[in-house]
Amino acid sequence: MCKVSLWDSDEPIPRSELLQRVSGAHGLLCLLSERIDAEVLDAAGPNLKVISTLSVGFDHLAIDEIKKRGIRVGYTPDVLTDATAELTVALLLATARRIPEGVEEVKNGGWRSWKSLWLCGYGLSGSTVGVIGLGRIGMAIARRLKPFGVEKLLYSGRTAKPQAAEVEGEFVPLDRLLSESDFIIVSCSLTPETQGLCNKAFFSKMKKTAIFINTSRGAVVNQEDLYEALSSGQIAAAGLDVTTPEPLPTDHPLLTLKNCVILPHIGSATYSTRGIMSELAANNLLAGLSGTGMPKELIL
Ligand code: NDP
Ligand code: DGY
Repeated sequence: MCKVSLWDSDEPIPRSELLQRVSGAHGLLCLLSERIDAEVLDAAGPNLKVISTLSVGFDHLAIDEIKKRGIRVGYTPDVLTDATAELTVALLLATARRIPEGVEEVKNGGWRSWKSLWLCGYGLSGSTVGVIGLGRIGMAIARRLKPFGVEKLLYSGRTAKPQAAEVEGEFVPLDRLLSESDFIIVSCSLTPETQGLCNKAFFSKMKKTAIFINTSRGAVVNQEDLYEALSSGQIAAAGLDVTTPEPLPTDHPLLTLKNCVILPHIGSATYSTRGIMSELAANNLLAGLSGTGMPKELIL
């Protein structure tokens, strides 16, 4: 038996409400929209022994503070991999083949005749794809892209991955990935090392015809530099499922660009995936509360 204090709303819990309600709690189930830092942990007090996040990403958790206090963490890897990889492929195709622009032209009367070069984009067949962060989701993206006729799959990261053999992936330095890829997909976790990784220098090494896709975290990208790269023709187009901040203000310069497709962080948003994530997050929480093995515990 446990007493539950539920924030029964689709809107994020206001910070002041969280700080107040968490006081004395033994467990906390949170979303990626809540920053769980020393202030929240102090407000919770010494009872808190488990945090369960409804996400695989854990950059919103102050891991050092959590570890120091001996608090266990549950998260939701694997169960959202397929949904996120699928969305990444959809975003890549939408961006490369200019689907949102095409839909808009049909609605606004811009479609007047069939023209040979109108709304042309870039195809995957015979292309080189570069994946930054060939983890669970990166691999699932690569597996889905190969059957489109991708000729070469490059990846970069901290370490070479034996599982890359399945997609004939070649582990290369980032600079080579940037200069050779027609499509660049960011699927790494957000860490101090990857924060701001995609900046002016990064975009300047890409081909002018290359497409940039990010479904990891917004902070991996320097958005001012991305705007510059897109508006100056340094790169062809970008598709983002994640931004800084979230939501992206509706007057943000990136939203004025036709060659930038932005989605509202919906990588894992299928009914079944969100259901499975919720069940897993609840089971992680319960296991943490009872001091037993969690289905998916983050090893701190
Ligand atoms: P994994 O831990 O399996 O993969 C993360 C990958 O990032 C690892 O392969 C890791 O490589 C790599 N990485 C770490 N540091 C670097 C670096 N400096 N350069 C390049 N690669 C690096 O996690 P998942 O695949 O399950 O998830 C990845 C991320 O996707 C999550 O952290 C989350 O931020 C995001 N995500 C977004 C969703 C959305 O809705 N858009 C949905 C789900 C996840 P190594 O193993 O060598 O350290
Ligand atoms: C995650 O799990 O990290 C995603 O961003 C949302 O599913």
